[in-house]
Formats: sequence, structure tokens, C-alpha cells
Amino acid sequence: MKFFVDTADTADIADLAATGLLDGVTTNPSLIAKAGKNFLEVVAEICKLTAGPVSAEVVALDHPTMMKEAEILRKIADNVCVKVPLTIDGLKTCKALTSEGTMVNVTLCFAATQALLAAKAGATFISPFVGRLDDNGYDGMQLIDDIRLIYDNYDYTTEILVASIRNGMHVLEAAKIGADVITAPPAVIKGLFKHVLTDKGIEGFLADWAKTGQSIG
Ligand code: G3P
Repeated sequence: MKFFVDTADTADIADLAATGLLDGVTTNPSLIAKAGKNFLEVVAEICKLTAGPVSAEVVALDHPTMMKEAEILRKIADNVCVKVPLTIDGLKTCKALTSEGTMVNVTLCFAATQALLAAKAGATFISPFVGRLDDNGYDGMQLIDDIRLIYDNYDYTTEILVASIRNGMHVLEAAKIGADVITAPPAVIKGLFKHVLTDKGIEGFLADWAKTGQSIG
């Protein structure tokens, strides 16, 4: 399973990239606003921190303007993945861009039938939002299960990118279902490293090591 980080914070991205686990980055207009930097500049900066896909989202709602925005975004770097909303105009844009070899991430997916449409439009990634479904009383992970089944039924190559992840259980369930990618906030990814028994183990080893009076090197 690939790990993307869902942030526009370049310090966090660099930190995670150094662990070797980072396969890509996703951003959205809210994350760009939170970073407080120029959109095009920060996307260029992020593209240098990872060789993997960097999702940058269009903000237009109509297909012709989405194409104009996508043209600007894809010129930033070869690893830019244009993010479009799951609308008719978004999928027209998806079809046009992927036909030209540009990666596209179709976002704001809340139904398996929407994911089916995105696959038919040639999407590189589909982003179902599990956390927002859970927040609204639906079962987010059931959606991932359904999309996996449908894509496997027809051998669609669109990658399931589980988004709106809130916790480690979402990551675990995504991996068990066989999702292709997860994107999670830096804090959730960093939380995956932690285990109380790991901390306790380190503490015990260091206490015993101190008793030896030795040092390495
Ligand atoms: O970037 C898309 C998605 O991951 C957003 O998550 O936490 O705003 O629901 P969230």
C-alpha cells in the first residue's frame, strides 16, 4: 500500500520523506489556505521533496476553465497530479487530461457508483473520503470495500486512494481491504510509529545498558 501525506506543510513532508515511507503528497484548497503560502510556489516546493505524485486541485467548476487551470498546474513539474471534483465537468476534465498522459486524482467521492464513473473516465486515483462519511453517520470503510469489489470485478486500474483519514484504524482497515493508497495528515502517520510497548522496551533496554557502564564508540 502506498502512503501519501495529506498536507501542504513542507517541513512535515520533508520529515516524512526522510523515513523513506512517503510515496506522494495530496493537497486541497483548505490545506493550501492553512499553509499560508502561494499555491503554485508551494506545489513546486513539494514536487521537489518527493518523486511521487503531488495532487494539486483546480478550483474552477466548469470544464474549460478547469482545463486552463490544469494546464498551469501540470507545467509546474512532471509529478503533478491534477485533482478535480467528482462532477460532470470534473470527469470531462479527467478524461481529457488522462488521455494526454497527465495524472488525475478525482476527489470528493462519497459513493461507489461515483467511483465507477471516475474509473470509466480514466482517473489515475479515486479519493473516497472515509472520515467525512463516518462524521455524518455513514460507514466510510464500507465504501472502500465496495469500490475494491467493483474495480476488481472489471479490472479497472484506477487506484483507490483512501482520503479523509482520521486515525490508525482507518489505515489498518484500508490495508486489510487492499486499498492502493492512503493519504493521511502527518500526525496520523507519525502516530503509526508509536506503541506503548516500544517505548517501554526502549526504556528497559536503556536502563539495563546503563548498568553495563559501556558506550558504543
Ligand atoms: O485531502 C482530501 C481529504 O483527505 C480531506 O480530509 O480531514 O478534510 O476530511 P478531511
